Formats: sequence, C-alpha cells, structure tokens
Amino acid sequence: MSEKIYRVIQWATGTVGQATLRHFIENPFIELVGVHVTNPEKVGKDAGDLVGLPVTGVIATNDAEQLIAIEADCVLFAGLVADVDLFCRLLRSGKNVISTAGPFIPNKWFEEANARIEDACREGETSYHGCGIHPGFSGDILPLTLSRLMSRIDSIEVTEIIDKLRNPMIYTEIMGFGRDPDDLLAKPSRSPDAPRHFYQSMAMVVEGLGKTIEKVTTDLEVAKATQDIHYDTGVIKQGTVGGQHFTWTAWVDGAPFLSYHFYWTMGRNLDPLWDNGDSCYRIRIKGDPPLELKLMGAEAEDGRTPFLGLPWTGLLGATALPAVCDARPGVITHIELGVVRPKGLVRK
Ligand SMILES: NC(=O)c1ccc[n+]([C@@H]2O[C@H](COP(=O)([O-])OP(=O)(O)OC[C@H]3O[C@@H](n4cnc5c(N)ncnc54)[C@H](OP(=O)(O)O)[C@@H]3O)[C@@H](O)[C@H]2O)c1
Repeated sequence: MSEKIYRVIQWATGTVGQATLRHFIENPFIELVGVHVTNPEKVGKDAGDLVGLPVTGVIATNDAEQLIAIEADCVLFAGLVADVDLFCRLLRSGKNVISTAGPFIPNKWFEEANARIEDACREGETSYHGCGIHPGFSGDILPLTLSRLMSRIDSIEVTEIIDKLRNPMIYTEIMGFGRDPDDLLAKPSRSPDAPRHFYQSMAMVVEGLGKTIEKVTTDLEVAKATQDIHYDTGVIKQGTVGGQHFTWTAWVDGAPFLSYHFYWTMGRNLDPLWDNGDSCYRIRIKGDPPLELKLMGAEAEDGRTPFLGLPWTGLLGATALPAVCDARPGVITHIELGVVRPKGLVRK
C-alpha cells in the first residue's frame, strides 16, 4: 500500500463537516492544510478546537481565495448547498473535490453542472466525487452489492427511517413539519427536484441489473401530531404535520420495481403511528431468497439507536478520498471507484 500523505482542506464544519474534520485530524494518511468556515465565531479558531481535539496549528478562515491559492490534494466540501462555481475553481487549481452537497452521481437532470465539472476536471487534471448516505450509499451501492446474494429479484425497497425529534436536523421547517396536512399534501415542502437527485442512484441499481427505468412516480402521506410537539427551535401544534412518508418508485417492465421510502417523523405522538422501529436504513429485496438488511448505529445508553446518516455522509467521502485523488481526471462514480480500500482506519 502506498504511504502517500494526502493534503486536505475541509470546507464547512456543520454536522457532516465536523465528522470529516475529526477524521482528517486523526488519520495518519491525511495532512489537514486548511479549513473554511462561514460562521464568524469560528473564524480564527484552531481546527482542533472546532471538534474538541488537540490544537493542530491549522486556523479556520472565511477567506476562500487564500484556500484556493494553497497547494492541496483534495477539498472535502460539506457546505449547505452545492457551489458548482467554487468546485470548478478548486478543480482547475489542481485540487480534487469531494462534495456531500452534490451533484451526486452524473444525472440527466444535472447535465449542465456535470458538464462544467467535467471541463474543470480536464483542465486541472483532477477528479470530482459526490458522496452521501442517501443518495450515495443506501439506495445504490448497498442494494446493488446485496443483489449478489440473490438468485432472482422481484422488487427492491429502500427505506430511510428518521425520528427527527431524537435526531435534530436542519430540515424540520424546510420540510414543512407543523403545516396544515391538507395544505402540505396539495403543495409539499420538499422540492420537486428531490427525486431528481435520487434518480441516478435508482438508475445505478436498475441498469446494474440490466434493466431500464420507464418512469418514476411519487406518493406522499402525512401523520398528524396528536398533541403539541416541542422541539429545540419550535413547536409543532396538535393536528398539524408531525410525520411524512414519501415514496418514489422506479417502474421497470410495466410494474413498480425499486421504491425509496422516507419516513421522517417528529417523535411518536402521531396518527397514524408508522411502526418502523428506530432510525435506520432498511433494504428489503423480494425474490429468491427474500432478504432484509438494517443499517443502524450501535445501541446507545438509553437502549435506542442513534441516526448516524450525517456522520456517515461525510465518512463515505473521507474514506474514498485517497482513491478519488488517485483516480483518472473527471467525475468519478462508485462504479469507477470499485471496491474502496480506505487508508488509516486501523490505528492505535
Ligand atoms: N447525500 C446525503 O446523504 C446527505 C445527507 C446529509 C447531508 N447532506 C448534505 O451535506 C451538507 C452538509 O450537511 P450538514 O447536515 O452538515 O449541514 P449543517 O450542519 O447545516 O452545516 C452546513 C455548514 O455549511 C456552512 N455554511 C455555508 N453557508 C452557510 C449559510 N449561508 N448558512 C449556514 N451555514 C452555511 C456552515 O459551515 P461553518 O459552520 O463551518 O461556518 C454550516 O455549518 C448539506 O449540503 C446536506 O444537504 C447530504
């Protein structure tokens, strides 16, 4: 195994970015050379202080130009929204880019962004990889890998289950929790673009199995709060939306084949109360022999399992970082990465 040390810039230190920053500081194959922050309270702080680790000597900055000018092998971007202009500048400056904000896998709905990124990769002789738990893992490489345990596949169901009361996230208001149920059903808060981000994950599975997606359909059902639900930044009033179940289904040969379910709830005082157990990703494959896999964090002290989708989103990028840096120039998907062999995970 090559002993190369990869010089890395961490861009943004929210929930996902903190997981990767911690990993980079601790991984002996990584040299942290820069940290970009937006929050003025974080500017000037040592990277170690941002994640409760010893001082590193790397000082967080909001000066993008300074970071673009320094020499680095890779930038791991975990900002709020994808910034394709920034990605192209970084790629042209000779830095590989991994983004948890997408664009994820090249997709017919994001042709322009991907074409620009491809051009920048060619000019900078660099690579780009979009990473995440879903899209990026649970609905694409995981079911495709599990398909090798099957003799025949009739249908595949991928389900994301998150109790957002127990695992607070930025999406509570954005997703329309607390809205009038009929109003939300008529005009969902989740962007109509959302299934487009997941389309290529679906295509990776369906095309990987030798078939073609004919259409993708969307369903939404809501659960009402049976009492006022208090969370860290607000209250969901009784009778308003306290749970949402989105389903996107890819049709193959005239029938539903691959469905993605998303159960996002705010606690358990809901009607209906979907009985899904703790937060997890669940893959069910119907066929011969039928299969079920649950991907979840280990049990915590309270006997329940935490939702780890956010740290996993970053770590999927961090563990692929050496492979992305060593890959050919261009947009690199899971298919090109193949079996990733992470570096520096086993250590004292
Ligand atoms: N594919 C997947 O499965 C998946 C799953 C989860 C998340 N994601 C994506 O990963 C990214 C990071 O998610 P996260 O949960 O870590 O989000 P987060 O906790 O809100 O962190 C986002 C960070 O972006 C920076 N930022 C830049 N401009 C900002 C602005 N105008 N307002 C507020 N913050 C701004 C801030 O960094 P500083 O604090 O350093 O200033 C902030 O902490 C998001 O794009 C999210 O959509 C993808």
